[in-house]
This record gives sequence, C-alpha cells and structure tokens, in this order.
Amino acid sequence: MKVLVIGSGGREHALVWKLRQSSRVDKVFCAPGNTGIVELAECLDIKADDIDALLNFAKYEGIDLTVVGPEAPLTAGIVDSFLKAERRIFGPDKSGARLEGSKVFAKNFMRKYGLPTAEYKTFTSCLHAEEYIRLKGVPVVIKADGLAAGKGVFVCETADEAIDALRLIMKEKAFGDAGSKVVVEQCLKGEEASFMILTDGKTVVPLATSQDHKKIFDGDKGPNTGGMGAYSPAPVIDKNLYSKIMKTVIDPMMKGLKRERMNYRGVIYAGLMIVDGKPYVLEFNCRFGDPETQPILMRLDSDLFDMLKATAEGRLSEVQVIWKEDTAVCVVVSSKGYPGTYEKGKIIEGLDELKGKRNIMVFHAGTSLNKGKIVTSGGRVLGVTALGKDIQTAKGNAYKALEKIHFDGMHYRTDIADKAIKRQ
Ligand SMILES: Nc1ncnc2c1ncn2[C@@H]1O[C@H](COP(=O)(O)OP(=O)(O)O)[C@@H](O)[C@H]1O
Ligand SMILES: [Mg+2]
Repeated sequence: MKVLVIGSGGREHALVWKLRQSSRVDKVFCAPGNTGIVELAECLDIKADDIDALLNFAKYEGIDLTVVGPEAPLTAGIVDSFLKAERRIFGPDKSGARLEGSKVFAKNFMRKYGLPTAEYKTFTSCLHAEEYIRLKGVPVVIKADGLAAGKGVFVCETADEAIDALRLIMKEKAFGDAGSKVVVEQCLKGEEASFMILTDGKTVVPLATSQDHKKIFDGDKGPNTGGMGAYSPAPVIDKNLYSKIMKTVIDPMMKGLKRERMNYRGVIYAGLMIVDGKPYVLEFNCRFGDPETQPILMRLDSDLFDMLKATAEGRLSEVQVIWKEDTAVCVVVSSKGYPGTYEKGKIIEGLDELKGKRNIMVFHAGTSLNKGKIVTSGGRVLGVTALGKDIQTAKGNAYKALEKIHFDGMHYRTDIADKAIKRQ
C-alpha cells in the first residue's frame, strides 16, 4: 500500500515513522516533509495547502491512504475534494473541521450539546465586546474566531490587556478574517491535559492521554508557544477523571456530531482544563496534536496504518489498540527568540549519535539541509522523544539524549514531565 502524509512538522515525522512500521505499507510519501522525514519517505515539493496538486498526485501515484497532519487543509476542504474524487483520506470534511476552524462554532456546539466549557459570549462588534468585558471584569480570555496558528488567544489579567487584545484582533485585523468574530470567555484556573480520540463518526477509540507544556520557559512562564514538550500517559487523568471525560465530554460530543450530520473520520483533540477534578473543554482540534503525537506514537504497539485506514473506511469498530506500558517524554528544542523572531540556518550537531536507538527518536520539525549539513529553519526545531519504564526514566533518557545535540542559540525547557513526577 502507498501512503501520503501531508505536513512538515514533528507530528508528521512521527506519523511517517510509525506508518513505515506497518507490514502493509510499501511506500510513504510526504508533502512537503522535512529533513528528518526524508530518511523515511519520499518528500514532495507540494505545499500542505495546495489541495489540487495533492489530489492530482494521489490520483497519479495511486495513493491508497492520505493522512492529513495540519488543520489548514482540513478547514479548507481537502477531505471533501478527495472524497468527491473517490480517494481514501483520513480526516474530517469541511463541516467537521469547523470544530477547530471556528471557535464560535465550537463553543456554540458545546453549549448546544451540554459539554462542560468556560462561560462565554461571542461578538462581531469590538465596542460591544469592550462593554461586556467592563461589565464582567477580569481575568478574561479573548479568542479570535478563526485559525491563527496558535497566536489568537489572549489570557488577560487586566482590562487594558483585554481591550488591547480585542483591538488587535478586531480593528488591526492581526489575524485577518479570523478576527471578524471573537469569543470572550471566563478564565479557568487549573491543570491542562490533552485527550485525543479516533472516530469514524460511529465508534470512538480513545488514544493514550498526554500533557503538553504551552509556555516557552520553565515553571510555565513566558509567552505561549506551539508546545514545548509533552509526555504520555498523563497521570492527572486518573481512572475517575477518565470516565468523567468520556461521559461528560466525549459522549455528548459524539451525539452532536451525529445530530449535526458531520462527516467525521479522523482525530478529535479536546484541549481540557481540569478544575477541581472536573474536565472543561478549552477547544477542539480536528487533527493530531503536536508535540503530543510524538510521545503517544512512541507508545503505540498496534499498526497505525490499520487504525487510520479503518477510520477512513468507517470500520473503526474492528480496531483493537494496544499501548506499551512504558512512559514517553518529548522535549522540544527551539530556536532562541521563538515564539518571537529567531535566526535560521544554525548547524545542528550530534544527531547521528542518536540514530538507531530503540528508546530514542529525534523527530524533526524546523530543520533543513544546507550544503550537506542539517540546519535550523523554524521556531520549533526538534522533538527529542524517549521511552522509559516510568516517567523519571523516560525524562532522564530524553534529557541525556539532548546533551548530545547542539546548535547555536538552542533552547529547551528543563522541567518537562516534572508535574507528572510530583504527582506520584
Ligand atoms: N478559558 C480559559 N481559561 C484559562 N486559560 C485558557 C482558556 N482558554 C484558553 N486558555 C489558555 O490559552 C491556550 C490556548 O487556547 P486554545 O483555546 O487552546 O487555543 P489555540 O490552541 O487555538 O491557541 C490554552 O492552552 C490555555 O493555556
Ligand atoms: Mg490549544
């Protein structure tokens, strides 16, 4: 079988790596891929959002399964185009992808189907939103409605901050049309966790639990990023909380998908805030999380190709998923200055030494090749991911591997997994 993976980050490197392990997969292509993926798949010079070119390639090459990594092609309707051309694809169609593509839609969906979420109001007028904030007070969270590459959410401690955020989104249009509407919501205080499921619209298969680290610096300080590290499983989700999530979040969400007749054959990622032992949904993503997918797939024993193909074909009920007992920890290495501006083109050393180790995978994100050398080309550069028999061992393995890697201005958090260790 031939598989096409769309995207170019650490998530896609992990997907390609795992798909390649399937005995049913003969060849993997990746569009556009990255320097790490090149070793496992044929990378194509097609952008992740060039739907026509991707479909043409899938037809021409006779691709059996296309797996979409990032959200942009999903909200733009790549699945609709592939299905119309009768090509098998993993991911929700345009109607399903609205769960991520519009925060207003997602919040209204949650309210309609009774999912626990922060109290909120949506606005198309900046003035009305300002009035509401003055009435409600702070802290408050302001969210641009549409896709904003993880930059459209502002947790505001003062009214001035909130007003600035509103103006940036709605008046200055910092995120373009994504800022025509906003969600203003109650600020929840608690611990965040990520809960992903596979669904074909009928059956739900939960993936292993995980926890991301959004802030750039140790101790959850500094600005938000795409994610600086993750581990799986997340001990904050104990048995009791797990069943609460299934009952109060996943069951009503599935009911909503069916009622709204969404054609959903993919991943649903619920970003949760746990407040006093209760899960609240902060947002939905319509694809695999990044970096969470890196540690999660390290722990997967089952055949990922079978799982994704069955999802795409509406046969998810036939799938059994087995996880390793081991814990996995992923530490993201970023360029100095990220999530702000950063320099590119720094030579990365030490990667060869880490190849071929059973317990370690260095997933690439922002890397590229320059005169035969691997150099940095993005904010998040690598995801150093390690397995261990418990969380301490996995953390130790990840950080030991990290010591081998070097580039000018490399940054990483030193406290990934400490929350889980403290919990023991
Ligand atoms: N209601 C809320 N209360 C407190 N923090 C929030 C709330 N909503 C979002 N956040 C914080 O902002 C981050 C980003 O928000 P999220 O809704 O996940 O949007 P996105 O991932 O699209 O930027 C969350 O990971 C969380 O840290
Ligand atoms: Mg998020």
